[in-house]
Amino acid sequence: MPAELPPDALSPLEAAAEIARLTGAIREHDRRYFRDDAPTVSDAEYDRLRRRLLALEARFPDLRRPDSPSLKVGSGPSEKFEKVMHRVPMLSLDNAFSDEDVTDFVARVHRFLATHGEAVAFTAEPKIDGLSLSLRYEAGRLVSAATRGDGAEGENVTANVETVADIPRVLPDGAPAVLEVRGEVYMGHVDFAALNARQEAAGDKPFANPRNAAAGSLRQLDPRITASRPLGFFAYAWGEVSDEWMPTTQWDRVRAFRDLGFPVNELMVRCANAEELLAHYRRIEAMRATLGYDIDGVVYKVDRLDLQARLGFVSRSPRWAIAHKFPAERATTILEGIDIQVGRTGAHTPVARLIPVTVGGVVVSNATLHNADEIARLEARIGDTVVVQRAGDVIPQIVEVVKDAAHEARAAYDFPHLCLCDLKTPLIREETATGEEGKIRRCTGEFACPYQRQEHLRHFVSRRAFDIEGLGDKQIEFFFTDPDFPIREPADIFTLATRNAESALKKLENKEGFGAVSVAKLFAAIDERRTIGLERFLFALGIRNVGETTARQLARAYGSWSAFHDAALKIVDGDLQAREEMDAIDQIGETVIDAVAAYFREPHNRAVVERLIGHVTPLDAEKPKTDTAVAGKTVVFTGSLEKMTRDEAKAMAERLGAKVSGSVSAKTHIVVAGPGAGSKLAKARDLGVEVLTEEEWLALVGG
Ligand code: IVH
Repeated sequence: MPAELPPDALSPLEAAAEIARLTGAIREHDRRYFRDDAPTVSDAEYDRLRRRLLALEARFPDLRRPDSPSLKVGSGPSEKFEKVMHRVPMLSLDNAFSDEDVTDFVARVHRFLATHGEAVAFTAEPKIDGLSLSLRYEAGRLVSAATRGDGAEGENVTANVETVADIPRVLPDGAPAVLEVRGEVYMGHVDFAALNARQEAAGDKPFANPRNAAAGSLRQLDPRITASRPLGFFAYAWGEVSDEWMPTTQWDRVRAFRDLGFPVNELMVRCANAEELLAHYRRIEAMRATLGYDIDGVVYKVDRLDLQARLGFVSRSPRWAIAHKFPAERATTILEGIDIQVGRTGAHTPVARLIPVTVGGVVVSNATLHNADEIARLEARIGDTVVVQRAGDVIPQIVEVVKDAAHEARAAYDFPHLCLCDLKTPLIREETATGEEGKIRRCTGEFACPYQRQEHLRHFVSRRAFDIEGLGDKQIEFFFTDPDFPIREPADIFTLATRNAESALKKLENKEGFGAVSVAKLFAAIDERRTIGLERFLFALGIRNVGETTARQLARAYGSWSAFHDAALKIVDGDLQAREEMDAIDQIGETVIDAVAAYFREPHNRAVVERLIGHVTPLDAEKPKTDTAVAGKTVVFTGSLEKMTRDEAKAMAERLGAKVSGSVSAKTHIVVAGPGAGSKLAKARDLGVEVLTEEEWLALVGG
C-alpha cells in the first residue's frame, strides 16, 4: 500500500478521490460490524480511517459530502428487517475501568443529588456480553421485538424472538397494559460449542464468539433457523411502560420481571457504597469462567427510580449507571489462515488471520506469529482453535493452540520457501550477528524484489552512501510513488533532471514541496555524485554483510570498480582462485563472499548495477600506503578525541596504511587514548601496548 500523504500534501482532486475511498471503506466496515456482526478490521484501524476522513474534511471543507459517515455514528438497521422506532431511546453506558473510576462515579452521584452523606443504594449485576433487545407487550401479549440498531431505530425481529424459549409471548394476568422489557440475548458456552461443531460438520463457517453467534442467530431471515439456535435472555431494563406499573426501584422492577416470567440474573445485589460495589465486582470476576455465559463487566445502577430521574442523562448515557469493565483478557477464536508480510528488508513475517473476536473490547482479526519457528513451537495449523491475548496497545498474540482431535488431523503448516514477489526468489534464513542460523527468512532479491526496493533506495542515498543533499527518506518515499517522476532504482536518480527537462506538461518545480530553487539545488547535488569514491559506491549497493568497513576493505584491495566487478562475476561462476583472492583480504571471509556472490548471481541486481554504472563513475580507491610510520600497524582509538571525530581519525589512520580495530589485544600496536578512556586503556597497559595521546598520535603521523 502506498504511504498515505498528509492532507496538506494533497491537491483538491486527490483529496476528493481519497475522501471517496475512505467513505466507501467506512460504510462497508459499518455494514460488516453493525449489520452482519462480522467485522473484518480492528477498532483501531476503523478509527484510523475515520480520523483520516475527518482530517481531510477539515482541510477541504467544500469536499464534505452531505451523506458523509463523519456526520453520523453507528449504522442504521439492516435493510433485511423492517424498522422499529424506539419510543424510549436505547442508550448505552459509560465505562469504568478502575476502582477509582467507581469511587468517582459514586461521589459524582452524591454530589449531583447533594445528599450530604445521606445513603444512596445501588444495584450491581453482571454485564452480559450479548445483544440488547426491546420486547413490547400490549395487554400482556408480545407485539414486537426490536434490536438496538442505532439506539433510535432498530430491526424488527419479532418472528425470530417468538421462537426463543426464554422469552414469554404472553404475560400472566396483572401485567401492565403497556410494558417494554429490555435485556440481553446471549448464547451459553455449551450451546455455542455445540453450534460451532454443527457448523463445521455442515461445512459452514464457525462463529468467532458467543456474542456473534447470538447476533447471527437472532438476525436470521428465516425464523426456523433462529428456533434451532438455543438463545438465552436476561431482563434488566425497560422502555415505555404504562403508569400503573408500581415498583419504584431498580431492584423491585427486576423482581417484578421475574414474577412475570422473565429470566433475570441471580447475581444482582443491592449495595450501600463503593466498597460494596467493588466487593461484588471481585466476586463476579472470580466466578466469571464458570458462569457458562460471557460477561464483560459489572453494571452499577442507582436503585431508586426517583433519584435516577433527577440524575438524568449526559449525552447518550445515564448519569445514574456505569459499566465497570473487566481488564483486557484472552479470547478463543479460529486461525483462518497465515498471511506472509514482506518487510522492507525482504524479511517474511507470518501473521495469523483470525475470525474476528473481541478481546478486551477490541475486535481482533490478526495476531503476530513472529517467524516460522514460532509457528512450529505453537504447532499452529490452519483451522485450529487458538487462544488470543491482547495487552494494552500491543499487537495481539496467539498464546496457545487447542490441541484437540481436529488439530491432530490437520497438516502442519509449511512456511514458504520462495519470495512472495513475482521473481519467486528463494528465501534464506539470515544469519544473526553471532553466526547462528537466524529465525527470520529473507528474500535474496534485493533491488529486484519489489518489496525491498524502497528500502534499498533509502540506503543508497543515505549519509554514508551517496549522501545526496535534498534526497532523504521523505523524498525517496515521494519519488517512489510519484507517477510523473518515479525513482524505482538508483539509475532513476541520475535521469531525473533529463526527465524533468523533457517533460512538457508536468514539472517537478510545480509539485507541492518543491520549487525552482530546491529543484535546481537537488539536480546540482545529484550531479556532484556522478563521480564517487569506490568504497562509498560499493557500500551504497546494499550488498548484505557489506557494511562501510567491508566496502572500504574491498575498495582498497581491488582498487577499481572493474577489478571488483570482474572478481565478483568470477566468484559467481565458481572460479576458485577469485574466491581465494577475496578470502585473502584482511577481515573478509566466507559470509561476505557468499553475500557478494548471492547479489551478483541475481540477474536483476546485475541489471540494476549496470544501469547505474551508465550514469556514475566510481573513482579508483587509493591503495594503502606502505611508507608511513603507522603502515601495517593495528590501532585502537579510545576515550574522546578533541581535534577530530572518531570517523575522521579512523579514515586518516587507514589512509596511512594502518588498520583500525575496536578492541585491544596482543595484536594491537598502538592505543590512542583521549580523556575518559577506561577499560581499553587499562588492558593496553596490562599488555604493554604502546599508548599515545591524541597530540602524540598526530605528531607521529605528521598531521
Ligand atoms: S443497563 C440505559 N444492564 O450493555 C442503559 N445493560 O454498554 C441501559 N448490557 O446496550 C442498559 N448487561 O446491551 C444494562 N445488566 C445490564 C447489562 C447491560 C449488558 C449491555 C446493553 C447495553 C450495553 C451498554
